[in-house]
Amino acid sequence: MNLDIIKCDNKICSLFGKRPVPTILFSKATEKREQVMLCVGEAPGEEEDKYNKPFVGKSGSLLRSTLAMQSWFPKTDVYLSNIVRCRPPSNRDPSVIECQNCIPFITRDIGFIKPDIIIAVGGVACKQLTGTKLGIVKVEGLTLPYVNDKQIPVLPIFHPAAVLRKYSLFKSMALPLLGVACAK
Ligand code: URA
Repeated sequence: MNLDIIKCDNKICSLFGKRPVPTILFSKATEKREQVMLCVGEAPGEEEDKYNKPFVGKSGSLLRSTLAMQSWFPKTDVYLSNIVRCRPPSNRDPSVIECQNCIPFITRDIGFIKPDIIIAVGGVACKQLTGTKLGIVKVEGLTLPYVNDKQIPVLPIFHPAAVLRKYSLFKSMALPLLGVACAK
């Protein structure tokens, strides 16, 4: 089940009026479900905006295929989402204010999905979800508490866009995910 498209009334947001990309259920457990995982990226890009789905562009496809690899997650429901729901123009990074404007939506979705683990895909998501000031290089692969509920672990990984720029980062992105898969 996907989460309904959010209605946003924040007219002072610089991204107001664009089409928000919803949180989706990417894959459903094929065996008895033991885990719910939510992967949260930064913001939709051009392809995500076009298809109204998270992680469908070039870097998103790398994340999706990693998640689908060897049926790593037969006992896991995997959701995909973003901190910022509307595409920042020209693929620029979302501003801190745009992230803060959008935070209520991921907060709502986390409350609804009740993930056992959140994967922070890249530094922007990691900072917003954990409150850390540390960059992704310092925290990737560690487990930090979710800022609103310390019981929910947040696992930061390199963003697939960074992996596409530097392929040697692939195992740093994929191995923590494999660790989550093997934990169940
Ligand atoms: N990058 C993100 O952070 N999110 C997407 O949905 C796609 C690319």
